[in-house]
Amino acid sequence: SKEGYDHFLIKEIYEQPRVLREVISIKHNNYVINLPLEGSLSLEELKNINKIYITACGTAFHAGEAGKYAIENLAKIPVISEIASEFRYKNMFVDDKSLVVFVSQSGETADTLAALRKAKTIGAKTLAITNVVGSSISREADKVVYCYAGPEISVASTKAYTTQVISLYFLAMDIALKLKEITQDQVKDIIQNMEKIPSQIEEILKHKDEFKKIANSIKDAKSIFYTGRSLDYITAKEGALKLKEISYIHTEAFPSGELKHGSIALIEEGTPVISVATQSSILEKTISNNQELLARGATVISIAEEKNKFIKDSSDVIIEIPDTIDLLTPLLAVIPEQLIAYYASVLLGNDVDKPRNLAKSVTVE
Ligand code: F6R
Repeated sequence: SKEGYDHFLIKEIYEQPRVLREVISIKHNNYVINLPLEGSLSLEELKNINKIYITACGTAFHAGEAGKYAIENLAKIPVISEIASEFRYKNMFVDDKSLVVFVSQSGETADTLAALRKAKTIGAKTLAITNVVGSSISREADKVVYCYAGPEISVASTKAYTTQVISLYFLAMDIALKLKEITQDQVKDIIQNMEKIPSQIEEILKHKDEFKKIANSIKDAKSIFYTGRSLDYITAKEGALKLKEISYIHTEAFPSGELKHGSIALIEEGTPVISVATQSSILEKTISNNQELLARGATVISIAEEKNKFIKDSSDVIIEIPDTIDLLTPLLAVIPEQLIAYYASVLLGNDVDKPRNLAKSVTVE
């Protein structure tokens, strides 16, 4: 039931503080990572692996890309990420020394399942990150990590995404710790910052009127662009997908630095650009990208942490999110994106929970 909410989507957006609190508490005990044997790799298994792949579709793929970032930055292992429908048909050089991670809310997505079967045939070690216990992908993978998001009814994925990111981050920390690339103190520090995320999301949710206003200001745009660098680019892609699938407005995400290599030609007077600007280490670059956009007439809406609110000097509108560490910003920056998409869809009179042409679980290839 929608429990008094107008749509499942808004109910599921608002459930995120609770489900994230739950998933975080399940995955550690007093800051010691607590992954079950069937959902983690032993040191011996890790030593038998020399390549890691992550594959998935849509929003689950974006979570996978955040997971790639975490594994690369914490465990210092390169990770190859590829969309499942591509993974299936490309030579990915997967072999019996590869670990392939599959991310799927439903655990039934045809392309992800086919990629899993292909990887297994080759003899790779397989690990599923999924929300649905007993799903095909959970049954067929060697290892399975559950996301504990609870049932997700709305077609557009929200709470599954944030719980997938948390689950992948715990996997990354576990691998990094076993390989001695990070210390228990670093793990504790990350988890302590993670524990603040649910109440920080509650803080963001209080500003729903601000997001409704922004949704209203962009709902009639011909095209809306999302920009970001590094982890922010992943959040940009997720925001662009969320808005297009339920508002039917054309959206596209660009890596900030790539704009001037062609895409900036699309910017006209008043074109809305959502600039995801949370990565403190590269903020200067983001500011100059924003300035290039403003100079071409774009309306720049920046998503930035409170500590970086000076970004407002190179933005028309600023959406402030609470301060966290760079690694965790995707979990906060995605919330305004979800709400803007939701309100745009409502204002346009669309079928929010069942957008046209889409199915919750894509069991055809
Ligand atoms: C977007 C969305 C889809 C799914 C994709 C994969 O909001 O929901 O992009 O993420 O179809 O589905 P699962 O995770 O069930 O494999």
